[in-house]
Amino acid sequence: MSDQTKKTVIVTGASSGIGQGIAIAFGKQGANVVVNYYGDEKGAQFTLDEIIKAGGQGFIHQADVSKEQEVIGLFEKTKEKYQDLDVLINNAGIQKDSAFAHMSLDEWNKVISTNLTGQFLCAREAIKQFEHKTTVQAHEVAKGSIIFISSVHDLIPWAGHVNYASSKGGVLMLMKSLALEVAPKKIRVNAISPGAIATDINEEVWSDEEKRKELIKLIPYQRIGEPEDVAKVAVWLAHEDSDYITGTTIYVDGGMTLYPGFVDNG
Ligand code: BGC
Repeated sequence: MSDQTKKTVIVTGASSGIGQGIAIAFGKQGANVVVNYYGDEKGAQFTLDEIIKAGGQGFIHQADVSKEQEVIGLFEKTKEKYQDLDVLINNAGIQKDSAFAHMSLDEWNKVISTNLTGQFLCAREAIKQFEHKTTVQAHEVAKGSIIFISSVHDLIPWAGHVNYASSKGGVLMLMKSLALEVAPKKIRVNAISPGAIATDINEEVWSDEEKRKELIKLIPYQRIGEPEDVAKVAVWLAHEDSDYITGTTIYVDGGMTLYPGFVDNG
């Protein structure tokens, strides 16, 4: 695979976890990486330091992806600095778990507005920029690529996490419908749906021995994933090598979506 030197990539939620892993992986490819974060400035700075150490470039930019003006600001700043955007990694996401009958409207709204509305707002700004791209003349390959970071819970129902699963189910149709709409414009739109990847979001599970054992039972491949497992796929999916792929979800889940309960039942 050739490198992605000088490609400009926005990664939302890049101050920790999967977003951080993806941002650093693009840094290793020599890309210009815009490190978006919401609350963890130190984490974002760490990500940027690693990108620069790896030979990439970039800057950090604080924005709440659920706020329209902040998202517009993020994309304007990127344009100002690097002119043309090549890739959006639509990653920022949160969990606010609760038994359904006790789920507050605030818990519902926060998750939907970050995980679904946030992905909508960022995708919309990316599409506008791809459509007006100036530097690419002949579009032998895509002129822009969006990768939604979704979840196995765009497919697997999740009790106690109805807000989260609903947001990811929404992302699936957002991704596919958008892919259909913009394919003739030579814009690619895909998703990566990670399974259990060891990050802050699920630390309470993987750091506890008992809960970890239970989790492993849901993963046929018998190991919890690392952000790098997702990052390598994101780099490939943004690259010309995968140019003919659009509207697809790649499950990076060690087989979690294979109905592991059926291994010796049914
Ligand atoms: C969630 C994690 C969970 C994983 C598998 C992810 O989307 O954010 O908390 O461990 O799905 O259930």
